[in-house]
Amino acid sequence: MPETAPVPTHLGIIMDGNGRWAKERSLPRTAGHNEGLKALKRVILAAKAEGIKVVTFYAFSTENWKRSEQEVAYLMHLIVAKLHGELAFYNRHGIRVKGRGDLSALPPAVQEAIASTEEATKGNESITAVIAINYGGRDEICRAVNRILKTNDQKTISEEEIRQNLDLPDLPDVDMIVRSANERRLSNFLLWESAYAELGFYEALWPDWGADEIQTICRDYGQRVRKFGGVE
Ligand code: FPP
Repeated sequence: MPETAPVPTHLGIIMDGNGRWAKERSLPRTAGHNEGLKALKRVILAAKAEGIKVVTFYAFSTENWKRSEQEVAYLMHLIVAKLHGELAFYNRHGIRVKGRGDLSALPPAVQEAIASTEEATKGNESITAVIAINYGGRDEICRAVNRILKTNDQKTISEEEIRQNLDLPDLPDVDMIVRSANERRLSNFLLWESAYAELGFYEALWPDWGADEIQTICRDYGQRVRKFGGVE
């Protein structure tokens, strides 16, 4: 049997282009986010079909509070309505949902939606969908360091201690980070975990993503040679 190329165990996705997708159709930006959520569901199923075990979606960054009050409110509404509201979908497909980020600063209804969805899906084993909300890579590292400082008074901190105090220490590092809408930045996403991640930038706007994009990403990943600082 031919050896199959590896797929990323953990894929990180920066969902970009919802606003442009809506603008092209003369629709409000919120329509782009609503459509983006449908893409998110297609992508989870496609990732599961490829054998990817964890997908982390960048849904709301620590910088996204700068958007209009109306857009922030709509995104928070989507998270509440579509996290717990889509429980049947997650459970039917064996999707475990986890939140990542400074969740304590979110409105109580959002915190509650995340907590109850995590609880209701914790036994699912096909794929883990991590939703990064109020997430910033620098903020995550600062919170990890502050957690360590609270529990001991040592003067030096090791890489391993920081790693263990990140938001989801049990998940593997991200193998590949991809971004839609042809933007080529990490935008403060998974900064610690991406030290050796492959990067991929794709033209399609996020609401247009589906199985084709995930298959392309897996093919691209399979062609990369990962050396982790060593030699081949
Ligand atoms: C980026 O497009 C997209 C976002 C900042 C939000 C992504 C959020 C979702 C798809 C919904 C998440 C909901 C749940 C339940 C996880 P943009 O607005 O920056 O697009 P633009 O650059 O074209 O303006």
